[in-house]
Amino acid sequence: MIIAVDGPTASGKGTLAKALAAHFGLPFLDTGLLYRAVGRQVQINNGNPDNPADALAGCDFPDSILDDAALRTEAVGGLASRVSLHPVVRAALNKRQVDFANQPGGALLDGRDIGTVIAPHADVKLFVTAPAEVRAQRRYDEMQRHGINVRFADILADIHARDARDMGRADAPLKPAQDALLLDTGDLTIGGAVQAAIALVESRLRKS
Ligand code: DC
Repeated sequence: MIIAVDGPTASGKGTLAKALAAHFGLPFLDTGLLYRAVGRQVQINNGNPDNPADALAGCDFPDSILDDAALRTEAVGGLASRVSLHPVVRAALNKRQVDFANQPGGALLDGRDIGTVIAPHADVKLFVTAPAEVRAQRRYDEMQRHGINVRFADILADIHARDARDMGRADAPLKPAQDALLLDTGDLTIGGAVQAAIALVESRLRKS
């Protein structure tokens, strides 16, 4: 069984994806981490993330970079979004994701284009959303908890910019697959969203 979980930044899809993978006993891949690794490697190389050759050079990252705490930062998230626009970068990361999706025991992948490009044959496709203001508030609260001082308006502007880039790119833009199940987590607690996601997946599996 393959489950694809896609959605915009701070929609809660990462948390949901992990919970679903544990619930259904599936190996899990956070594909955003691969793009973050490329962004981080470009940063280490002092490269320009908007230059396709520099971004492609960033794809040559050591696996150890995936444990780098810097990958979780907003700065590297922004770099990831910028390098992910380049078709050469998407192509370079494609095989690793496709192989993971098609491993014999099944898999759950979370990203932007899992249901549309990486695993269009997935058994279940979930598209997780929430209004931009709610996503910005979650990100803001999380940063406050970590003692990082930021302005809400800056976070919201960043979310809008990231959405525009992820949805507006020509190659594999963020959008729900035609047969995706939509889940808006805007009014849900984490526990409520997990329950709703499990129920959606189970209802789709019953139909197939
Ligand atoms: O999910 P995330 O915030 O870790 O992703 C960071 C960026 O990587 C995101 O803004 C766009 C890009 N990305 C992508 O283009 N395709 C994916 N499957 C996953 C992430």
